[in-house]
Amino acid sequence: MKNILFVASECVPFVKTGGLADVVGSLPKNLDKKKYDTRVILPQYECMKEKYKERLKSVCYFQMDNRIYVGINSLVEDGITYYFVDNKQYFCGAKPYFDLFSDLERFAYFSKAVLSALPLIGFRPDIIHAHDWQAALVPVYLNTVFQGDPFFRGIRTIMTIHNIRFQGCWNVGHLRWVTGLPSECFQPGKLVSPYQDTSMPWDEWNATMLRGGIVYSDWVTTVSESYAGEIQTPAFSDGLDDILKWRKDRLMGIVNGIDCEVWNPKTDPHIKKNYDTRNFWNGKKENKIELQKRYGLPENGDVYTLAIVSRLTDQKGLDLIDGIMDELARKDINLIVLGSGDERYENMFRYYSRKYPDKIACRIGYDEELSHLIYAGCDAFLVPSAFEPCGLTQLIALRYGSLPIVHEIGGLKDTVKPYNQYEGSGTGFSFKGYSSSELLDRINHSEWLYRDNNTEWKAMAKRAMKEDWSWTNSSKKYEELYDSLC
Ligand code: ADP
Ligand code: GLC
Repeated sequence: MKNILFVASECVPFVKTGGLADVVGSLPKNLDKKKYDTRVILPQYECMKEKYKERLKSVCYFQMDNRIYVGINSLVEDGITYYFVDNKQYFCGAKPYFDLFSDLERFAYFSKAVLSALPLIGFRPDIIHAHDWQAALVPVYLNTVFQGDPFFRGIRTIMTIHNIRFQGCWNVGHLRWVTGLPSECFQPGKLVSPYQDTSMPWDEWNATMLRGGIVYSDWVTTVSESYAGEIQTPAFSDGLDDILKWRKDRLMGIVNGIDCEVWNPKTDPHIKKNYDTRNFWNGKKENKIELQKRYGLPENGDVYTLAIVSRLTDQKGLDLIDGIMDELARKDINLIVLGSGDERYENMFRYYSRKYPDKIACRIGYDEELSHLIYAGCDAFLVPSAFEPCGLTQLIALRYGSLPIVHEIGGLKDTVKPYNQYEGSGTGFSFKGYSSSELLDRINHSEWLYRDNNTEWKAMAKRAMKEDWSWTNSSKKYEELYDSLC
């Protein structure tokens, strides 16, 4: 039996702001339980649902470095043990993340607290699997500050990059102060880029937590093969291509899966009409009408319906949508949006839904249940992202027979097969150049197919629903990686 510890800042069902939480919530359950004892450790946010907080049992508590309180609590859910790092001062508030400046200190504390707690919780991991910048200091602390203690020697580490845009970056002076890491960590080639302008004072150099995670871990993974290639180029690496190229023999892309129990149109309790490949056409229509009702749109099961469920940020290609809104509204279609994020995009969708109340409708906010109805009730699902490490929404859309229209990039390229009318193949529509006109062209094509070649559309929707995007294949790849490490 191998012991694996996932370290992350979010995890379904406890706290979620994006796909990271879905992956950390579902991958451990899909690893072979006979071979791996996989546990997860998270911050104990005050904003976590009450029903989970009530079930927490205390494991231990201590003063880290003789001055900062660390409590470790745990609960078991669905056969997985979850640990929570408790410090009310750091993890209070209505959401998991705040401004970067304070987040740096909170997650540096979290990473160090995780390691400090290990000798006390009765679980010594063979492998620590750290996710994103919030956990990236775990491999750094482990291979520096904690190396003196025999308990930690031989523990292997994997750093998974879910989104390289977020790195935990500040100047050396501040990061030295919040992390307490030795100065060797802040030399060029470690947390600091080798191309640093060394004429500047050392304290003002840029240091990056994620870079540290990449340098100090045994393996680096990311969430699709295409993204693993893209982040080795300056256009997609946000300044980390040098280190990723240097580590390319220890870098691998493994595409995410989805939890096919949660995302199953046949059994989904949050949708109006359950369906499978045999009755999806009528099933989806019923869901569409329910969706139109909830969004205050005219009820019509035949209107071609596009949807977006997304964080509303630059990453998601919403500037392309902005460029075609008036054009879209001239068509006989619906565009249904659920999302929250940047004010610019929230206001953009508010504006257009007021301008075209019979066609475009948005709900600004986060609503897990409503998202299920959207995946079930729409015909096509838009993901025109500028970059997309993996993307889960297009995978969910496929499972619900809603055809994705995507930019051919990152995980979108690896998971959506473009429609080919000559071969009668494909599971969606994709465009290569990042432009509004290419997006509009694909939407027009999809609309034509839906209306004028409905048999082809239905065949494609069935193909999409039959694809296997569960964790079955990808969890095997993680298992092989774990086995190669110890
Ligand atoms: P990212 O992690 O970049 O946000 P992903 O596609 O990997 O993108 O994952 C997004 C996840 O968050 C999906 O499970 C999606 O359904 C969910 N989601 C995004 N926005 C909302 C929202 N406003 N309400 C409900 N679920 C949302
Ligand atoms: C990130 C990425 C997204 C990916 C998710 C889970 O948030 O933006 O593409 O699916 O992590 O790995």
